[in-house]
This record gives sequence, structure tokens and C-alpha cells, in this order.
Amino acid sequence: MTAHDKTLALMARGREFLGTETAILCGAMSWVSERNLVAAISNAGGFGVIACGAMTPELLDAEIAATKTLTQKPFGVNLITMHPQLFELIAICAQHGVGHVVAAGGIPPKGSVEAIKEAGAKVICFAPTLALGKKLLRSGADALVIEGNEAGGHIGPVSTSVLAQEILPTLAEDNIVFVAGGIGRGEAMAGYLEMGAAGVQLGTRFACASESIAHPDFKKMFFRASARDAIASVQVDPRLPVIPVRALRNKGTEEFTAKQIEVAKKLDAGELDMGEAQLAIEHFWAGALRRAVIDGDVEGGSVMAGQSVGMVKAEEPVAEIIAALLVESEAALTKRSAA
Ligand SMILES: Cc1cc2nc3c(=O)[nH]c(=O)nc-3n(C[C@H](O)[C@H](O)[C@H](O)COP(=O)(O)O)c2cc1C
Repeated sequence: MTAHDKTLALMARGREFLGTETAILCGAMSWVSERNLVAAISNAGGFGVIACGAMTPELLDAEIAATKTLTQKPFGVNLITMHPQLFELIAICAQHGVGHVVAAGGIPPKGSVEAIKEAGAKVICFAPTLALGKKLLRSGADALVIEGNEAGGHIGPVSTSVLAQEILPTLAEDNIVFVAGGIGRGEAMAGYLEMGAAGVQLGTRFACASESIAHPDFKKMFFRASARDAIASVQVDPRLPVIPVRALRNKGTEEFTAKQIEVAKKLDAGELDMGEAQLAIEHFWAGALRRAVIDGDVEGGSVMAGQSVGMVKAEEPVAEIIAALLVESEAALTKRSAA
């Protein structure tokens, strides 16, 4: 590791916070971030995060237990804040002594941050704006992730580069802030570290690692795709606010339009309230992602991917991806310090 002194020095606070050799997180990816990928990331010196997604408490319990048999290193669990059994899931994390819980998919509901911290775990939250970032820190978040629009999966409206400029200068000196979205190479990682980020979070770059259980056809679609194939879903009905999702263009992205119209009609007919309508949309995505990742239905399913997908060319072991990121980052930092 001594070969990457500059990078590791910039990551020092993030490494201490996570308890890892590098402050590179593999963001939770539903269906993809299960025991194998999570353990591989943590064993390679990064920070793996289990994607709980729509799992029941029993399934999460089994997944954490299985991950523990594959790694002794720290890893986290990502919980979706709108999960109806959020507090039961928090209790499962507590029983296992999970050190870090990532609260995703919205502002954590009342009492949830406290419940996570009561068990001694650290809470990581997503900050969509500077104001919300400050509020989350005041409410007890121990670290923030800022994730730009380039990312795969559910996305916000603002690019990573703008969010980084808006948030890092104000919050990163006194707080742990990780940057995510569109990072495919170490040079970009180095740039955000220099701006004050404590570390980075990548998803797309790790989704097709050798250790990832994603279906071979899912991986093939990644290898063939370029940045412009990773498109954001479109909201068709202004009354039904849906969080956009970035995925590779296919028949499934079109079916989402039809699904929105169907759900909006049910909303109009009073068959669903707004919360149920949004949950129906989320269930659609969870099912579509499962079909692509697990069954290999890359036409009808959802192949969620970020714009950095064009930099994913082949299956590589996690350790090699992390090593390449460190080498690229170190070279960039060395070049700058020599200039
Ligand atoms: C296939 C896929 C599934 C994802 N699922 C989730 C999820 O369940 N929860 C979550 O918080 N983020 C999810 N994400 C986002 C990642 O955790 C990560 O923040 C993101 O991929 C980082 O940006 P990048 O794709 O540009 O590297 C997903 C991303 C992808 C590509």
C-alpha cells in the first residue's frame, strides 16, 4: 500500500471512519450487492455494503450472517427508508453488530437514526442538497454521501461535479463526506479527494466484477454499452412524482412509461393513495432489476447502470479494480505535485 501514499493520506479520515485500508465504498446495488461481492470488496481493502432492498428481516439476517463467514473485515448495510419494516431491519443490523448503516431512498423517518445509533452503529445518509446535508448532520448522521445524476440506479437531478462544488467546500472539512456518481477512474477519484472528500463510492464500476453474481448477459450488456446508453427514466405524469432511474436503454425502459400510466390511473380512481402509488413504482423497479441481474432478461428487465458504464470493458476481480483506481489516482496526484 505504500505505493499509494498521497491517495491514502487524502483518504485518511474516510479510512478511519470505515475501518478500512482504502476509503473506496462499493455502493449497495439491489440483487448485485450480496454476500459474494460485499465480502470481496471488503477483503480487497474497500468497504462493501449489502443492499437490503426489499428483503424481509429474515432474509437480511441470513445475508449478514453469510457475509460474515466470507470476510472478517468491516462492511455496511444499506436500508431503504421507505421499507415498511425499517425498524425490524435496524434491529437485525444491531443484533449482528453491523458497524455502518446507510440510509437510502429519502430522509430517514423519525427515530430511525437514533435507533441505529443506539446499537453503536454509524449512520451514513445521502445529501441531495447543501441545506439537507446540514440538516442530516444536525439530526445525527455521522457521514454523508453526495451522489450525482451520472450514477446508476435511482438518481437526483444534479451532476456530481456541481454537487461536489456546492457541498464539499462547506461541509467536508469538519465532516465525513463521500462522493458518488460517474467515477470510473482513479484520476476522478483523486480530484474529489483533493476537493476534500473523505472517500468515494462507486457502483457501476464494480457491478460486473468477477465476484459479482450478476448474470453473464447482464455483464455483457455493460461491456458493450457506452455512456450515452445509460439513460434516465422519464416522468410521464406530473401528479405522480417518481424518482428517475438510470439504466441501459431497452424494452424495459419503455415498459416503465406504461407502468406509470397504469399507476397514475389507479391514483385517479382512488384505488391507490400517493404512498401506495410510489411503492408500486418501487416494486416495479425491484422486480425489473431482479429479472435483469438474476435471470439475465436484459431486454425486458432493468439493467441499471451509470454513465461510467463505458469504462467497464471486461470482468475483472475486485482487487484489480481497486488497485487500478489507486494507481491512476496516485499518478494524477504525483503529476500535479510535480508541476
Ligand atoms: C444496478 C444498480 C443497483 C443499485 N441499487 C441501489 C440500491 O439498492 N440502493 C442504493 O442506495 N443505491 C443503489 N445504487 C446506487 C449505487 O449504490 C451507487 O451509489 C452508484 O452506483 C454510484 O454511482 P456510479 O454508478 O456512477 O458508480 C444502484 C446502482 C446500480 C448500478
